[in-house]
Formats: sequence, C-alpha cells, structure tokens
Amino acid sequence: MKRTNTKPKMSIPNPLEFILSSFIMELAIDLGTANTRIHVKNKGIILNEPTVISRQERGGKVVAVGLQAEEMLGRAPKNIITSRPLEHGVISDFDMAEALLEYFFKKLQRQPGRFPFPLFPRVLIGIPAGVTEVERKAVVDAGLSAGARRVFLVEEPMAAAIGADLKIKEAKANLILDIGAGTSEVAVVSWGGVVVSKSTPIAGDEINNTIVNWIRERFNVLVGDKSAEVLKKQLNVHADDQNSPLTIRGRNLNSGLPKEIQVERDELRQALHRPVQQIIELVRDIIEETPPELVADLVHTGLVLSGGGAKLAGIDQLLAENLEIPVRIAESPELCVIRGLSQILENPKLLEKVQVAWGR
Ligand SMILES: Nc1ncnc2c1ncn2[C@@H]1O[C@H](COP(=O)(O)OP(=O)(O)OP(=O)(O)O)[C@@H](O)[C@H]1O
Ligand SMILES: [Mg+2]
Repeated sequence: MKRTNTKPKMSIPNPLEFILSSFIMELAIDLGTANTRIHVKNKGIILNEPTVISRQERGGKVVAVGLQAEEMLGRAPKNIITSRPLEHGVISDFDMAEALLEYFFKKLQRQPGRFPFPLFPRVLIGIPAGVTEVERKAVVDAGLSAGARRVFLVEEPMAAAIGADLKIKEAKANLILDIGAGTSEVAVVSWGGVVVSKSTPIAGDEINNTIVNWIRERFNVLVGDKSAEVLKKQLNVHADDQNSPLTIRGRNLNSGLPKEIQVERDELRQALHRPVQQIIELVRDIIEETPPELVADLVHTGLVLSGGGAKLAGIDQLLAENLEIPVRIAESPELCVIRGLSQILENPKLLEKVQVAWGR
C-alpha cells in the first residue's frame, strides 16, 4: 500500500467550543487490531485493553468488551459471538467497532473522581498509513456514532515516530517500523512529515497463523491461537542460546484427543522464516524508494522498531544483519503510537500539521 498525500482540513474553533474547552474530555486513541489504548488529556494512558467484543447472537446485545471479552474467546457458550472488529488495522465490522468505542467512552466516564456527567469527547485516532478514503471515514463515523463530538485522524507511523522520540522535525531521515498484530508499517519521516511509507498485512497475527498451520502439517495437531502466541514469545527468530525444545498442547487430529508435543527451536525458526523475511523485505523496499540524500542519513540514524511485534526476540538482530544499518527497539514499543498520539493531542500546532483529512 502506498501513501497518498492529502491536505489536512482546518479546524475552525467556535465560541461555544472555546467556553466548553475546559470541561471537555479529550482523548487520543490507538485503535489497534489486537489492542486499544486510550490517553486522556492531562491524565495519561488510562485504558489498555484487547480490541475484542462479545455479544449475544440473537439481538446483538453486548455482553463483554476488552479484557473480559478476550477471556471468552474460544470458551464462550454458543449463543455468544466473540470477535475482533478490526482486521489488518482497519474496521471490518462497523457496528462492533462503534459498540466497542462507546463502551470504552462510558467506562472512562464511570471512573471514580472523573467526568461525573456525560461528555462528548474530542478524539484523535491513529490510522494505518495509506488506507482508503472509505476506511478513514469508517473510523471517523465509528467515533462519532460512539459519542465523540469531533474526530481527528493521524497516521500511525507518524505517531509511532513521535512516540519513539525520533527527531522528526530535523531535515534528517528517520526510519520507523511498527510491527503490530494486523499490519507492519514502515515509514521514512523527515522535516515533520512522512516522506514515504509502506505497509503489509504480515505481522504478529500472521506469525501466529503460520505457527498454527505448521504444527498442523508437521504433527497433525491443532493448536489454538493463544497457544501459538505463547510459543512465539519463547522463540528467538535470529538464534537461540538454549537448545531445550518448546512444549505446546493441542488436539490430535487423528484421535481427536488432547496431545502435548515438543517443538525443536531450529525447526520452528525455519517455519517462521517466510513471514519474518517478508517484514525485512518491506523495509528493504522502502529504503530503495527513499531519495538518495535521505538514504545516506540512515547509515547513522538507523531503524527504530515499535509495536508489540518489536518484542519478537531476535527480530532486531535479523533486520540489522540484513539491512546493514543500526537497529534499535523503542522503549515499551507497544506504547509508541499512543504516546505519539497523546503528544499530538497536547500540542494543537503539531495536530494542525500532522492530521489527515477524511473527506468532510
Ligand atoms: N514478547 C513478544 N514477542 C513476540 N510478539 C509479541 C510479544 N509481545 C507482543 N507481541 C505481539 O505484538 C502484537 C500486538 O502488538 P500491538 O499491540 O502493537 O498491535 P496492534 O496495535 O493491536 O495491531 P496493529 O497495529 O497491527 O493494528 C501481537 O501480535 C503480539 O503477539
Ligand atoms: Mg498498532
């Protein structure tokens, strides 16, 4: 996916908005495929929960959202449907995305000592770079129907770069790679703007799927997503200094009974070679598209990793070896986007500069 440059719309403050501004709840939201993080202006990140919602099959009544809903994944009774309303960073189920945001807004208002009366927040939401106009508008509409008074959008790689403390205002190239659950996004940021960006649907979820499929083919055992994720977190994709095999439990597809298997680290590493290589290729492609003067900067500024997938052990070493530039993992990489969005929310001039239009 390539980024199209769009001119931000001007926000025109009106007098009522000015008077209300001291009472208004302002939120920054990282609406991720796997996790939603919300920052409340002047208060900090006060919500960090899975982007999961459970509802009754009949009538669609919401029964659980976030952490509680995630616990129901794969365990809930038949009449309850548990789903993730986002796929590859964009809304795939509008009604459920709206219900999830509405639930989170209400939860923030219910917090003791906070917002004792209903408020219609101004919200800033991160979106993947290069999404379509329709996908952008879906995020805005979900925010508005969930109760937001106003919605602003910022591209996630820009937010991630700010949240990773990159010197984005300087005329130097900064390369950021955000590996989330549904998308990996890479961007070159310079002079306070995104020069070039690219994304791929190969990220944490795809690595989990690859593990599930490989174990089914190799051992004839079906394992769940959560078990695959636990296995992934124990493997170093570059090289392991320990040899002990990894243990995982699933269902033997011949007998239908539970089975525990031992997985050799080397074999699993090989099985994950393809998705990991696809992420490396994404960064290689963007370096090839970067103007030569900026490429020269990258030898010094290197690549910074954000997103939960940056915690995949060894991914930094593999990237450094393959791309021959320094690679650094940002502090708490999974929080880079929300940290960046919160800095943008607190700084109206920066917001004016980096927000993207959404066609209204
Ligand atoms: N220690 C770890 N090792 C490997 N992967 C990890 C680790 N911790 C988290 N992850 C992965 O990080 C991903 C979640 O990251 P993050 O919360 O940044 O995604 P997201 O923002 O919800 O998704 P996206 O940005 O794609 O919409 C999951 O795929 C998870 O498995
Ligand atoms: Mg993300």
